[in-house]
Amino acid sequence: MKKILIKNIKELVQVENTPKEKIVGKKMASLNTLKNAWLSIENGIITDFGEMIHWNGISDWSNLEVIDASEKMVFPSFCDSHTHLVFAASREEEFVDRIKGLSYEEIAAKGGGILNSAKKLQATSEYDLFETALNRLCEIQKTGTGAVEIKSGYGLSVEAEIKMLRVIQRLKKASPLTIKATFLGAHALPKEFKENRNGYIDCIINEMLPIIKEENLADYIDVFCEKNYFTPAETERIIQAGIKQRLTPKIHVNQFNSIGGIQVGINNNALSVDHLEVMTPTDIVDLKNSTVMPTLLPSCSFFLNIPYAPARALISNNLPVCLATDFNPGSTPSGNMPFILSLACIYLKMTPEEAIHATTINGAYAMNLSHELGSIAIGKKANLFITKKIPSYNHIPYAFGSNPVETVILNGVRY
Ligand code: NIG
Ligand code: FE
Repeated sequence: MKKILIKNIKELVQVENTPKEKIVGKKMASLNTLKNAWLSIENGIITDFGEMIHWNGISDWSNLEVIDASEKMVFPSFCDSHTHLVFAASREEEFVDRIKGLSYEEIAAKGGGILNSAKKLQATSEYDLFETALNRLCEIQKTGTGAVEIKSGYGLSVEAEIKMLRVIQRLKKASPLTIKATFLGAHALPKEFKENRNGYIDCIINEMLPIIKEENLADYIDVFCEKNYFTPAETERIIQAGIKQRLTPKIHVNQFNSIGGIQVGINNNALSVDHLEVMTPTDIVDLKNSTVMPTLLPSCSFFLNIPYAPARALISNNLPVCLATDFNPGSTPSGNMPFILSLACIYLKMTPEEAIHATTINGAYAMNLSHELGSIAIGKKANLFITKKIPSYNHIPYAFGSNPVETVILNGVRY
C-alpha cells in the first residue's frame, strides 16, 4: 500500500504522545502542536511524526507520495458525533414560517417538523435516500469531517426505520468516512399513535429492536426526551430495552426544557447527552459525577434562534464539552464543522483550542472512537486534513463561512 509523507507542515495540530480518551475542563484550553513538522502514513495508519529539524530523511522511496505542506497546517479530521443526515427532503417552508414568527414547537404542532420529514421519508426509496445521503457525506468530507454518527428517526414505522438504518449500513460500506449508526425510533410520536403512546413504544421495543439486533443495524440508541415528545420515564424504558440489545444510549435532552433527561442518561451510562441548551445547576452537578459526554449543537441554536448551551459553565465545572453539527432538515441544515468552530468561539465563548478539542478528540469519545481517531498519534487511523495557507489555527473560527480545508486524507488515502 502507498505511503505518504507530509513535510514542512507549518503547524501539526492536536498531537498526542500519550493518547487520552477525552480532554476535560481546564485542560481543554491548551492544545498540543508541533511547528515546522512532518508526518508519515503507511497502510492507512499514522506511523510517525516530528519536527523537521529532527527529521532523518527518507530511506525507502518506494511507493512514497511526498506532500509539501509549507505554510499549511495539518489537523486530525473532525469527528461529528451527532447528525440526522439521512433524510428525504429539505424543509425550507418551515424556515420561512419561522421568519414570520412561528416557533419550532408551533410548527411541529401543526404537522410540520419531524412528522413532516417522516411522511416524506416513508414515500422515498432506499436507493434515493442512499444517494442523497452519500452526497451529503461527500459534502462534509470536503469541510474536514472524517467520522460521523448518523441517526434514524425520520421513519417512525417499522418499515421506514429499518429502511433508514439499512441506508446507514450501506453508507458505512460506500463511504471512506468512519460511520456509527444510532436508532432513534423515539424521535416523535407518529399521528396514528396519538392516543396510544404505549402502543408506539411497544412497537419500538417489540418490533423494531429485534430486527435491528438480528441485522446488526445500530451501534447506539437515542430518544428525544422533551415535552411533547418522550418523557424521562418513557426514555428510560426505551433505552433500557436498547441496552439489552447491546445498544449504548446517546440521547437528545434539555433542548427546550430541563425535565430529567440528563439524569436518565447518567443512570443508564449514556455515552453522551446532546443539545443542553436549557440547563439547571443540578443538571451540571449531576453530570460532574458521571462519564457522560456533554455534547453541544450550536448550529441548531443559530438556525432556530434559541438559547446557546452554557459551554463556559460546563468547562469551569471541570466537565468535557463535545461539539457536533446535528445536520438535519429541521433544526440544522448544515454539516459544516468549521462553522461549528466559529459559533463555539463567538456564541459559546469557547477559545479556539477548546473548540478544536471539542470537535476532534471529544467528538471521537462520543462515538467510542478515541482509541483510533480524534488526534494525531502514532497508531491512529490516518484521517486528517491539510489546510489552505493560513496564518494560525485561530483563523479557522475567525474566517467564518470559508472552508479552510485543501486536502483530505482518509484511511491513508488522499482525496
Ligand atoms: O436534534 N431535536 C430533535 N431532533 C432534531 C431536529 C429534528 C427535526 O426538526 O427534524 C434535532 O434538533
Ligand atoms: Fe439531533
